[in-house]
Amino acid sequence: MSTLRLGDEAPDFTAQTTEGEINFHQWLGDSWGVLFSHPADYTPVCTTELGATAKLKSEFDKRNVKVIALSVDPMDAHKGWIQDINETQNTTVNFPLIADEDRNVAGLYDMIHPNADEKATVRSVFIIGPDKKIKLTLTYPASTGRNFNEILRVIDSLQLTAYHKVATPVNWEVGDDCVILPSISNDVADKEFPKGYKQIRPYLRLTPQPDL
Ligand code: BEZ
Repeated sequence: MSTLRLGDEAPDFTAQTTEGEINFHQWLGDSWGVLFSHPADYTPVCTTELGATAKLKSEFDKRNVKVIALSVDPMDAHKGWIQDINETQNTTVNFPLIADEDRNVAGLYDMIHPNADEKATVRSVFIIGPDKKIKLTLTYPASTGRNFNEILRVIDSLQLTAYHKVATPVNWEVGDDCVILPSISNDVADKEFPKGYKQIRPYLRLTPQPDL
């Protein structure tokens, strides 16, 4: 298995999940996708991550993003654990969990890093565009829970920069100024950015955020 890189096609698979058998590409349809792995069921950090993700469903829906989680634990463990997550995190898990017992998906996405742990998946995140291409990857160790508000923030940036000739600067949040791509000339920028822009350096031009 080779490492997946940005711009690569997200490998397709068919997997058993808590919401039935899913063919990944078909399930994604025209949506964006977040595929994320966690090391094991009935573990504290993962419990908080899955609870937080469930609570963000309306935010993912607003952005046309489908979310799917994975661990290499079996389906009966997933089902029992979901009840615990619902109870302890005061939510209802509203996205599928892949039971990747044969490690097929973990292998396709290189989610097992043997020098960290021989059997369990690390905390991988893959953000996939409607074209099924990988737009972003993150890898966290088991001991560090991810920040799902940051995942929403990068989705906002990915979606904005997919449709406008801008990039988002450090710590950007929706509504903040953006930078105009260096490849865009001032002549083109004059037409493309009706809200105007401020040139601080020829390569550093700030413009109000184009509409998402
Ligand atoms: C956790 O999710 O809490 C966890 C899982 C594996 C190792 C350490 C923490």
